[in-house]
Amino acid sequence: MIINQNQKWIDQTFDKIDKKLKETAIKSRYKIPYSVKDGVHTDMAKTDITWWTNGFWGGLMWLMYEATKNPEYLLTAKECEKILLGSFEQIDGLHHDVGFMFHLTSGASYRLTGDKHSRRNNLLVAMMLASRYNIKGEFIRAWNIPNSEGWTIIDSMMNIPLLHWASQEVKDDRFKHIAVKQADMCARDHVREDGTINHIVMHDLNEPGKVLGTKAGQGYGEGSCWSRGQSWAVYGFALSYIHTKDEKYLEVAKRVADLFVKETEKTDWLPRCDFRQPDEPKRYDSTAGAISACGLIEIAKHTKGEESKKYLSAAINILIAMEKNWCDWSKENDSILQMGKEEYHYGEHRNIIYGDFFFTEAILKLKGSQFLIW
Ligand code: GLY
Repeated sequence: MIINQNQKWIDQTFDKIDKKLKETAIKSRYKIPYSVKDGVHTDMAKTDITWWTNGFWGGLMWLMYEATKNPEYLLTAKECEKILLGSFEQIDGLHHDVGFMFHLTSGASYRLTGDKHSRRNNLLVAMMLASRYNIKGEFIRAWNIPNSEGWTIIDSMMNIPLLHWASQEVKDDRFKHIAVKQADMCARDHVREDGTINHIVMHDLNEPGKVLGTKAGQGYGEGSCWSRGQSWAVYGFALSYIHTKDEKYLEVAKRVADLFVKETEKTDWLPRCDFRQPDEPKRYDSTAGAISACGLIEIAKHTKGEESKKYLSAAINILIAMEKNWCDWSKENDSILQMGKEEYHYGEHRNIIYGDFFFTEAILKLKGSQFLIW
C-alpha cells in the first residue's frame, strides 16, 4: 500500500540513479571515489588504498549490475576489486572495516558471479577480522592506533555480516560465534537505556562486560548521539537479526530505530549530524539518513501491521526529503547525495561515497530487490 502510493517516485528516482551512474561507471572506472572535487570523483587509490570506504564504489556497481544487468557496471565493479587488492600489500594498515571494503566487492562478486578468486579474497579478510577478536575481553578491537587495544565502535555491527557469510561458506560456526559475541557486546555496552548510542567504548582487556569508559568519537561530545553511529546500529542490528533469526536483535534494532525516527521527524525528515548538538550551527548528515532508511525498510519487512507501516513510512519520508533537498542529478557532478558529514567537528557538508551507496540500496529495496549485499 505505502509502496504503491509512492511507486511513481520510487521508479523515477531509480531511473535518475541509473541514468547518472551508467555514465559515471565508465568515467570513474579506474578510480576508488571518496567524494568529489569540482564535481569530479576523487580517487583514494592514489592516496590511501586501505581507507575504510574503499569498497562502497565497487559495492554500488554490484548493486546496479544486479538490478540492471548492464555490463558496464560489472566491468567497473571488477576493476574496483582489482585495485582494492593493493591494500593486501599494506597488511598493517588493514583494520576492523575489512567487511565494508571487501564484503561489498569480493563478497558480492562471488555471490553474483561465482568468481573463486573473489571467494578467496573475502575468506581471507573474514579470517583477518576474526583474528581481531580478543578472546579474554570478548570483543572485536577497533582501529590499530597505539593504546586502543580495548576500544570497540558501533560501526562494527556492519562488518560482522562478513563473519556470518564466512561461517556459511566454510560450514563451520566459528566465525558466527564471534559475530554473535560482538553483537551481544554492542547491545550491552554501546546501546544506552534511552536507545541512543555510544560511538566508542573502552573495555577491560581481560574481563568481558567491564566498561572502562566511553568516547564521543565522531559526534558532538561525550554522552551525545552521533546520528551515523545511530544508523550503524539501526541497520546493523537488523542485519544481525536477519543472519541469526534471534528476536533479541530485532528488538534492539527497533529501539534504536525508534529514537532515530523520533529525532529525524523533528527536522522535516532531514537528519542532523548529532541528535544532541546545539540548534546552531545547523549540521546535517545525509549518510545517516540513507543508512537508516535501509535498516528501517528491513525492520519493516520483519514486523507486521501498523508497526511495519511505521518503519516503512519513516524510511520513505527520509528518502523523499533527502531526494528533494540534497540530491544532485546534474551531469556536471559525479556524485548524487550531498550534505554528508564525516564528523561533527571536522569537515564541510559534502557528498561521501557511502551516501550514494546506501541511498541507492534503499531505493532498490523499495523497488523490491531481494539481493541483500550484506
Ligand atoms: N565508520 C566510520 C564512520 O562512520 O565515519
